[in-house]
Amino acid sequence: MVSLSVNGSPHRIEADPATPLLYVLRDELALNGAKYGCGLGQCGSCTVVVDGEAVLSCMVPVMLLEGREITTIEGLGTIDEPGPLQEAFIELQAAQCGYCIPGMMMSAHALLRRNAQPSEEEIREALAINLCRCGTHLRILAAIRRAGELMRAASLPATDQGSAG
Ligand code: FES
Ligand code: FES
Repeated sequence: MVSLSVNGSPHRIEADPATPLLYVLRDELALNGAKYGCGLGQCGSCTVVVDGEAVLSCMVPVMLLEGREITTIEGLGTIDEPGPLQEAFIELQAAQCGYCIPGMMMSAHALLRRNAQPSEEEIREALAINLCRCGTHLRILAAIRRAGELMRAASLPATDQGSAG
């Protein structure tokens, strides 16, 4: 039995404590935003945020996550009320197939939480692990800059919407 806090909600999971977080999110909690790409820590499609830091969920056993706050893309907003990152990615049509996008957004979320006006270099560095097969990197970079603008315009702290309730 493992206790996890995901998007502000507590969960008690019957899983082998060595199970990678990605499998628990998708198979036990029906949070399918984080994607399985390589399972080897090399593509970034499984990225979530743990205590404010971007983490590759395919690489972290759930036993290391008790007492820590996990945020997935489902915690950034909803279809009816998208968060600034989701709004910006939609506005700039940053996705092609979309498979890499949740991981891209979560790496960006960790960055924008600590710096809502990152430089181009800082964005590229924060997303270095995240690969996109479709090659939409330039639109993704533009969407992250736009999300920062939206956050600053709204004077929003780049906090996790999902953790409010
Ligand atoms: S699925 Fe985790 S890094 Fe590729
Ligand atoms: S949009 Fe297809 S992998 Fe990035």
